[in-house]
Amino acid sequence: KILILDFGSQYTQLIARRVRELNVYCEIHPFNKVPAFTPDIKGVILSGSPCSVRDEDHPNPDLNQYLGQTPVLGVCYGAQLLAFENGGDVIASTIREYGRARLSEVHATNRLLKEITIGSQVWMSHGDTIKQIPDNFEIIASTDSVAVAAYKIAGQETYGIQFHPEVTHTTEGKTLLRNFVVHICGCQQDWTPDQFIESTVQELRDLIGNDKVVLGLSGGVDSSVAAMLIHQAIGKNLYCIFVDNGLLRHNEFQSVLDSYQHMGLNVKGVDAKANFYNTLAGLTDPEQKRKAIGRVFIEVFDEEAHQIEDVKWLAQGTIYPDVIESVSVKGPSVTIKSHHNVGGLPDFMKLKVVEPLKSLFKDEVRLVGKTLNIDDLILSRHPFPGPGLAIRIIGDITPQKVHILQQVDHIFISGLRTSGLYNEVWQAGAMLLPVQSVGVMGDERTYENVVALRAVTSVDGMTADWAHLPYEFLADVSNEIINKVKGVNRVVYDISSKPPATIEWE
Ligand code: XMP
Repeated sequence: KILILDFGSQYTQLIARRVRELNVYCEIHPFNKVPAFTPDIKGVILSGSPCSVRDEDHPNPDLNQYLGQTPVLGVCYGAQLLAFENGGDVIASTIREYGRARLSEVHATNRLLKEITIGSQVWMSHGDTIKQIPDNFEIIASTDSVAVAAYKIAGQETYGIQFHPEVTHTTEGKTLLRNFVVHICGCQQDWTPDQFIESTVQELRDLIGNDKVVLGLSGGVDSSVAAMLIHQAIGKNLYCIFVDNGLLRHNEFQSVLDSYQHMGLNVKGVDAKANFYNTLAGLTDPEQKRKAIGRVFIEVFDEEAHQIEDVKWLAQGTIYPDVIESVSVKGPSVTIKSHHNVGGLPDFMKLKVVEPLKSLFKDEVRLVGKTLNIDDLILSRHPFPGPGLAIRIIGDITPQKVHILQQVDHIFISGLRTSGLYNEVWQAGAMLLPVQSVGVMGDERTYENVVALRAVTSVDGMTADWAHLPYEFLADVSNEIINKVKGVNRVVYDISSKPPATIEWE
């Protein structure tokens, strides 16, 4: 495997995804917890960082067990760190070294640069630059403005590059990473979905044996793929519970339950709508709503789990981005909402936890799901928040409001599907606002609800842009909603990006 040391760059996870796309397994570790060398570590990549090596207390781990023993590739800050620590000169760059540049010189005989062409575009993003390399360093690539675009240390397989090979703007970045990971580190490209499934199923069998496992299905990609993997390993000893909290989309509970049964899962659908509505009645504060939903879910789930005799394990669909230990080099990041319930159910369940997807990124989970023949209806669906429509009804929740929003949402989402726009957006939904507005229908004045439609494009939900849906499409959807959904007389479209807005309204 490849070890990626994270110095806090926004691109660290992208490096990992690119390496995995080469079918090579890699792990991200924080720079201040460098794992001890083991023979399965075939190479190390040092990430970029928002820090500067010129700062007094810049991140500077002891890499002696790796340098000179194992191939090392420093990217951006990683490259500057190696140069600086070996006596090179790193200065604040006077010219802007952001954005596109072109390689003007390339040592084609160098193994890192095999098949990298002169003139190819690279993406720079740094405030510092290497002015002078140490004596035993050799420049192997340059751009017009950055002489030390790439270097190698003589006599060892240690490289530095000041551009970012992991972003798509570096057009031959993937070739460079392949050169490093496959040719220089000698990694086998055998980390594929098939291989992952085969070895994971075997590991799950060994781990679980004849024990019983309980798993909460949500209808989402992660819990569904986790369920199918465990199902392959232990069959009917996997007990799945799918709770109807009354906050799902129109008809979603039944159609997803049908899919699960079709997939052969041992699944129990639990109608807990009344329970959720009763607890939510009168609550208007978003955090209180979230907490109430979480609490009722745990109660319902716990009761169901107790009915399975002698259950030993709790399975969860935790994925890699939830468990990567994040580096905070510039102070702790603030919690904006109490969501993303990492850790899942509380200790009182007293079950051992099994998380078969915890080494995978989202796109890898989808690939594994595809290989397992999971329904596309489940695999390609947009993310949907755990508290469901409750955080899209601003203010208090009533079954009537849920019903109105389900109809609105259904018209919008079906419209996206039939117009072929569904896969163009990352997430879409509707918000029911606590606002009444005046309208005219026939000769009557109306005083009814406003709904807001929201559709965004994004990569991971951390940042998002509002989707530029065609006017004609929006016009049709708006008409259909106002004509068909009783209680709604006005539709607006949200044109805020994240940041500063968020995707959800609560
Ligand atoms: P925001 O609104 O923070 O949303 O821009 C980013 C992503 O997170 C989802 N989201 C939630 N998911 N529980 C969840 O499981 C929550 O309480 C929650 N709040 C927001 C949101 O749908 C989007 O995908």
